Amino acid sequence: MQAIVLVGGEGTRLRPLTNDVPKPALTLVDRPFLAYMVEWLAAHGVTEVVFACGFLPDVLREALGDGEHAGVRLSYVAEPDRRGTGGAIRFAADSLGERLEDRFLALNGDVLTDLDLSALLTAHADSESRATLALYPVEDSSAYGLVSCDGAGAVVELLEKSGEAVPGEVNAGAYVLERSVMDLIPPGREVSIEREVFPRLIGAGLHGLRLDGYWMDIGTPERYLEASWDILEGRVATRVRPTAPGLFVGAGAEIDSAASVGPRAVIAPGSSVEAGATVRESVLLDGCTIGAGASVSGSILAPGASVAPGAVVTGAVAGRDERVSAG
Ligand code: GDD
Ligand code: MG
Repeated sequence: MQAIVLVGGEGTRLRPLTNDVPKPALTLVDRPFLAYMVEWLAAHGVTEVVFACGFLPDVLREALGDGEHAGVRLSYVAEPDRRGTGGAIRFAADSLGERLEDRFLALNGDVLTDLDLSALLTAHADSESRATLALYPVEDSSAYGLVSCDGAGAVVELLEKSGEAVPGEVNAGAYVLERSVMDLIPPGREVSIEREVFPRLIGAGLHGLRLDGYWMDIGTPERYLEASWDILEGRVATRVRPTAPGLFVGAGAEIDSAASVGPRAVIAPGSSVEAGATVRESVLLDGCTIGAGASVSGSILAPGASVAPGAVVTGAVAGRDERVSAG
């Protein structure tokens, strides 16, 4: 099974973490965000992923490398100009040429999830649909695509980003598509699959299936931290092995015996926490230094950031190599 994963967003709300690293390549606990995506897809029978990259494609390629990850063959394509979700899927599909399978998955690459894609594939085959959307129930659908189905799962209405805070089942950004859907996407221009393609399929082979499980957009620092604890406390199925519930300490991280780390912390390889320092509800990416007696809470520190002895960092995001001075 092939999957096209859309990874063209810039992740502006995660700046400065995403100044030089696109969101999908950002480390979450111990691996790039993309790795979770690939491992999840592998668990549902995907053997080949094409990443549709709009932004910094080389950095994305470096995160997982060419070749394979978790038994999945990987490749990367970058659209020559802005294509939107539909245009990017079409561009990636075209890049496979004759190798594109008759039925494949397309996914938004910005959510951490363990939804049951196998159930989605089965429902798609059973309904003989042209496109089947994974749906997820939320309390506030305003920032998502709200999807209404009839009793048989056929989509009857789509409302993209209504701005109204009503509960409902939303487009979770995971689709099973028949190859023929590509014919509905004009090549070479920006096309939104949600606004321009799916509406044309209503009544003509568009289904939705509600899936239970974990599903979260990691678009803000708050959600990035929340997702980290969800991984480390087992609320989402991943391959991460926590050091202890809520805690991950990477190989080679140095934590002084007189420092206090946790509850809830990620201390990446090469980071050090000196005597008397406290780190809680925080993520230190590679090679951060927390000086003696400093206190870091509710914060994310990009690789190489340092906090001077005695400094206090609360609810902050520090960019690569940034230094927080004493006082
Ligand atoms: N390659 C490429 N090129 N990728 C793109 C482009 C593009 O031009 N535009 C968007 N993407 C990628 C983003 O990186 C993201 O992974 C995915 O497509 C969806 O785009 P977002 O910009 O994140 O959309 P959204 O979150 O506002 O809304 C979408 O996702 C919701 C679920 O999270 C819609 O599909 C909604 O209907 C849905 O509910
Ligand atoms: Mg999104």
